[in-house]
Amino acid sequence: MPRPAVHRLRHPRQRARDGQDRVEAHLREPRHPDAALAEWSLPLVVKPADEGSSVGVTIVDDRAQLAAAVALARTFHGPVLVEDYIAGTEIFVGILDGAVLGSVEVRPATRFYDYEAKYLRNDTQYLLPPELPADVLARAEAHALAAYGALGCSGHSRPDLRIDRDGNAWVLEVNTLPGMTETSLLPKIAKRAGMSYAQLCERILASAR
Ligand SMILES: Nc1ncnc2c1ncn2[C@@H]1O[C@H](COP(=O)(O)OP(=O)(O)O)[C@@H](O)[C@H]1O
Ligand SMILES: [Mg+2]
Repeated sequence: MPRPAVHRLRHPRQRARDGQDRVEAHLREPRHPDAALAEWSLPLVVKPADEGSSVGVTIVDDRAQLAAAVALARTFHGPVLVEDYIAGTEIFVGILDGAVLGSVEVRPATRFYDYEAKYLRNDTQYLLPPELPADVLARAEAHALAAYGALGCSGHSRPDLRIDRDGNAWVLEVNTLPGMTETSLLPKIAKRAGMSYAQLCERILASAR
């Protein structure tokens, strides 16, 4: 079986060049991982493109960890993505029927929002609304909605974003089947917006096509 390629993904980023919000993604040609990786500044994030729940994701702070991180990601589905690590705040935006429902900031006690912080530990903090300046949050939510639109989403979705130190929003991914246990992020956001879990489920079913 051919080895999954390693792609360096430039995050879809909103550039307000002409006043129009636009989401762009640049995918560099896959190159031999070892040569290309040696050129990139640390920290980096290595992850399988087609997994979830932070499975197979490694934050690489030391070049000596790189080969193992790529090898780990390769044991999972899809090509391997290598991204610049974005230091800053992590938020998750709830979208329902093309409108932003709200956002939650997540502060894990671990190095990043890994599997343990998501499902096993009870020391992950959830802040609703995110502790961000209003204009930064509004821009991030608009950015999340633009990504939802650019990817042709409908119904409910939950984009994951990093907000860097300059207040720029970077979309990590748009989850079209976000977790829906009663303690998951989208139900938390819906609750803060005055919607019960049952009401959220009804809305999602009603918007299903
Ligand atoms: N480029 C990045 N910069 C900083 N943290 C990242 C980056 N990519 C992923 N992470 C961290 O890893 C977690 C999982 O990555 P994500 O792309 O959302 O994959 P998954 O589908 O597994 O949730 C994120 O919630 C975040 O904490
Ligand atoms: Mg995610």
